[in-house]
Amino acid sequence: MASSSSSYWLTASLAFILTATLLLRESQAQLSSTFYDSTCPNVSSIVLDQVQQAQKNDTRILASLTRLFFHDCFVNGCDGSILLDNSSTIVTEKDAAPNNNSARGFGVVDNIKAAVENSCSGIVSCADILALAAEVSVNLSVGPKWSVLLGRRDGTTANFTAAGNLPGPRDNLTTLQKKFNDVGLNDTDLVALSGAHTFGRAQVWVSLQYSNGRMKAVGG
Ligand SMILES: *[C@@H]1O[C@H](CO)[C@@H](O)[C@H](O)[C@H]1NC(C)=O
Ligand SMILES: *[C@@H]1O[C@H](CO)[C@@H](O)[C@H](O)[C@H]1NC(C)=O
Ligand SMILES: *[C@@H]1O[C@H](CO)[C@@H](O)[C@H](O)[C@H]1NC(C)=O
Ligand SMILES: *[C@@H]1O[C@H](CO)[C@@H](O)[C@H](O)[C@H]1NC(C)=O
Ligand SMILES: *[C@@H]1O[C@H](CO)[C@@H](O)[C@H](O)[C@H]1NC(C)=O
Ligand SMILES: *[C@@H]1O[C@H](CO)[C@@H](O)[C@H](O)[C@H]1NC(C)=O
Ligand SMILES: *[C@@H]1O[C@H](CO)[C@@H](O)[C@H](O)[C@H]1NC(C)=O
Ligand SMILES: *[C@@H]1O[C@H](CO)[C@@H](O)[C@H](O)[C@H]1NC(C)=O
Repeated sequence: MASSSSSYWLTASLAFILTATLLLRESQAQLSSTFYDSTCPNVSSIVLDQVQQAQKNDTRILASLTRLFFHDCFVNGCDGSILLDNSSTIVTEKDAAPNNNSARGFGVVDNIKAAVENSCSGIVSCADILALAAEVSVNLSVGPKWSVLLGRRDGTTANFTAAGNLPGPRDNLTTLQKKFNDVGLNDTDLVALSGAHTFGRAQVWVSLQYSNGRMKAVGG
């Protein structure tokens, strides 16, 4: 049941501005919008090109990449950890209930990475590629624009448990406030990010629950 409602988890477009703000607060010294200007000057246009290519085949991809970035950032920061597969030391976040069968766009991220590597090998982190892909996706969706900060390092660990604790469709206000607060986001951020559900696709689900001697349908 949990997995069938998973696409309700935030598909956040304003998320980027907010997570970018959050990240800026935390690591102001290291991140910069011009981080790759001398080492990989075409990175932004390569990402834009790849996302536009993907969009030709997949009209949902802009929302999917946006959500992917949010699901990365909410768990231990924007470190690309959501991209990590199982290994001897990793239990992939991809399998966590909010992601399993609903997180998508991994192939597009791989294509972007390959194109970027082709232009400047070993320079741009996967975390930054995901951040750029999300920014481009929001831009192409005619959403708000911002100058994406770059210079993130890729995480080498994942946290399956924390990924299972992303804001969920059944969380009450207190729980949502706490989850956002725990990552440095306040009520304004919560409201703005929740508003990002106005784009993308959600799954309709119904579950039958038995309570007080009656069967009732609970859905969304
Ligand atoms: C688009 O879809 C076609 C047919 O499935 C596939 O051959 C092609 O590689 C896809 N292109 C991209 C950019 O994903
Ligand atoms: C990843 O590892 C976990 C824990 O060992 C396992 O439950 C899950 O099925 C694995 N996922 C994939 C896609 O192999
Ligand atoms: C992910 O979804 C698949 C298919 O619905 C399911 O078989 C698998 O058990 C799920 N993985 C986890 C870790 O819940
Ligand atoms: C960047 O793009 C420009 C114009 O498309 C091209 O001339 C140049 O060779 C590219 N540079 C790199 C390092 O790929
Ligand atoms: C944003 O989108 C516009 C087209 O809508 C495009 O001209 C511009 O280059 C895009 N900017 C970025 C950073 O992708
Ligand atoms: C993973 O996240 C959980 C809760 O979200 C936290 O308690 C735990 O310390 C984290 N594990 C690591 C290795 O960071
Ligand atoms: C909100 O949900 C939490 C966790 O399920 C629960 O402990 C708490 O009592 C709920 N608060 C309200 C006001 O319903
Ligand atoms: C949340 O934080 C932002 C940025 O610091 C601030 O502008 C806003 O007023 C805050 N909102 C609340 C409800 O505290």
